[in-house]
Amino acid sequence: MTTPIEGPSTPDIRSSADAASQTIDCRLKEERRFTPPSAFAERARVGLREEYEKLYRESLDDPEAFWRRETADLVFRKPWKTTLEWKLPHAAWFVGAELNITESCLDRHLAGPRKNKAAIIWEAETGEVVTLTYAQLHREVCALARGLRWLGVGAGDRVAIYMGMHPFAAVAMLACARVGAIHTVVFGGFAPEALRDRIADCRAKVVITQDAAWRRGKLIPLKRMVDDALASPAAASVDAVVVLRRLDATASLPQDFEPVTMMPERDHDWSDLCTKAKGETDEAAIVPSEHPLFILYTSGSTGQPKGVLHSSAGYLAGVHVTSKYVFDLREEDIYWCTADVGWVTGHSYIVYGPLSCGATCLMYEGAPNHPDWGRFWSIVERHGVTILYTAPTAIRAFMRAGREWPDRHDLSTLRLLGSVGEPINPEAWMWYRDAVGGNRCPVVDTWWQTETGSIMLVTLPGAVDAKPGSTGLPFFGVEPAIVDSNGMPVADNAGGLLVIKRPWPSMIRTVWGDDTRFHKQYFLEVGGVYVTGDGARRDSDGYYWVVGRVDDVLNVAGHRIGTAEIESALVSHPSVVEAAAVGRPDELKGQALVVFVTLRHGIETGPALASELAEHVGHCLGKFARPDTVRFADALPKTRSGKIMRRLLKDIAAGRASTGDLSTLEDLTVLSQLRDLQEGEG
Ligand code: WTA
Repeated sequence: MTTPIEGPSTPDIRSSADAASQTIDCRLKEERRFTPPSAFAERARVGLREEYEKLYRESLDDPEAFWRRETADLVFRKPWKTTLEWKLPHAAWFVGAELNITESCLDRHLAGPRKNKAAIIWEAETGEVVTLTYAQLHREVCALARGLRWLGVGAGDRVAIYMGMHPFAAVAMLACARVGAIHTVVFGGFAPEALRDRIADCRAKVVITQDAAWRRGKLIPLKRMVDDALASPAAASVDAVVVLRRLDATASLPQDFEPVTMMPERDHDWSDLCTKAKGETDEAAIVPSEHPLFILYTSGSTGQPKGVLHSSAGYLAGVHVTSKYVFDLREEDIYWCTADVGWVTGHSYIVYGPLSCGATCLMYEGAPNHPDWGRFWSIVERHGVTILYTAPTAIRAFMRAGREWPDRHDLSTLRLLGSVGEPINPEAWMWYRDAVGGNRCPVVDTWWQTETGSIMLVTLPGAVDAKPGSTGLPFFGVEPAIVDSNGMPVADNAGGLLVIKRPWPSMIRTVWGDDTRFHKQYFLEVGGVYVTGDGARRDSDGYYWVVGRVDDVLNVAGHRIGTAEIESALVSHPSVVEAAAVGRPDELKGQALVVFVTLRHGIETGPALASELAEHVGHCLGKFARPDTVRFADALPKTRSGKIMRRLLKDIAAGRASTGDLSTLEDLTVLSQLRDLQEGEG
């Protein structure tokens, strides 16, 4: 990523809302409702629809009583005085409370029978299994907390974590939280340049990484990628790097893998650091409720990714209560969330939520299809997984691979299936329920965002009927609405913008370093309510059906990608003058990424350049962001004021005729030229 190009400015929400209402019907193919299986409902925390309604009403009418009761098992060193102080756009929850989140996730479990219970069971892609009990996890977190203190890291300092799926990524996050530092986990699939930009934005003092991680039989050289990122002066804030040795020194490694080099003054071997730091304290830093816990960068519709900032007490309350109710967690569960810790789902539902409940979490290092499409099902069988939380894109890939893969394994331990990250099409929902859940397990679709911190819309598994493709009803404390561009509620079944009308504990507190952007992006578009950026409708039973983004954010295989980031990566290539990125519906990925580029005078188009450009985006952002199709154009369609008309490009990418208003299009000939382009030039 280099200089961001002018973003697409404020999304046109009127046309977005219209677009949302137009695209909905094609998804409604399954009309059945599925009542919670009685064996599940009988034991569930909330086993009746009326109980859900009662708790929901209480959460809105008497939030004080609701949150005090529901967080009673968490550790607050000082109780809160005021449940909520709300001064648009800033919410302060549980004001007056003091805490350290790690005491709720770790210390509180040590006094009782959970002490020697597995907290994390990790399976490496290469097959080895490591279990950390709560006592062991606590010990590791304390050891690294001392190490961080030895490096001079204290409350409020930023620490970047760039690791693969390894239990010590959770240790790193918790160790930061223990000393009051703000972690920013950067997904290991991001390229060094993207890591550098995130480090530069929050001026991280320390980077925690690992030598390498296995992915689909290959080693990802994470430490070397950190070296590349830190070579730039933009990352000069970093004065120490902590390196976990994930690779077994005695194992045979691929020949092309270069051993890690350590820079003497800067780089510290994780375990050496912990040894050196024995004299430091591992006491949890007790912080006020609103103390920042982490920054997680996510794509917005304009410019560089935003550093979404989350707080301590509110975030903890949100992830704790949702983990407890949505997954109906019980002491004996083996809970597996397949997300990566680099995304919000990994933060909330691998680390903080389940650990705050004392659950046993499974973590898997590698790819779902390594060595074959049976890997997930073999993990479920071998570890006796009871709750599985995964993404529609994975489910669709499993569907395509064939039912014989799950059929070969005993999946009878499963009792609950969850879905997250993108709309789940009814076909995938039904397949998940049948082929994976044996028609025995409730399937819960959960809608939420990096910014919301925790699950917002869901059908509680024991209490509420599920409708395949619908993300259900609001969770406790959440007051959603569907509105038009003026903020007026729309009728049932009419499409519009999904907004949240009142603050909730785990909501985003600000955008790191840019409070104005925070206010403008989330609260100014529709008169002071939180705008999600998603289009949705509510049916006459009150169920929400989320269609997808109405702004310029794409969801490609469950990865949130901003078109502006793709475009700025493309224009940083010497051949490109202008670029526009749009999504095209894709059966497997949900959306595929199509880019239109105009080239400098005299540059030849062709498949070689198309793949070079796709490669270039992969190099700037990470492989997951590589365009699926690159199309060359003489010019891009623009309005008279010079804005790229993305709606038209979307239609062209999808092979649809454009029906929108073309009156503002500057040069209509551009459109016919674009249509004439052959699909698949990339
Ligand atoms: C989309 C991931 C439909 C949505 C937790 C949202 C969903 C964006 C669902 C947030 C769902 C997430 N049904 N769409 N169940 N869950 N989304 O920040 O467009 O990576 O705005 O958070 O994913 O993506 P993010």
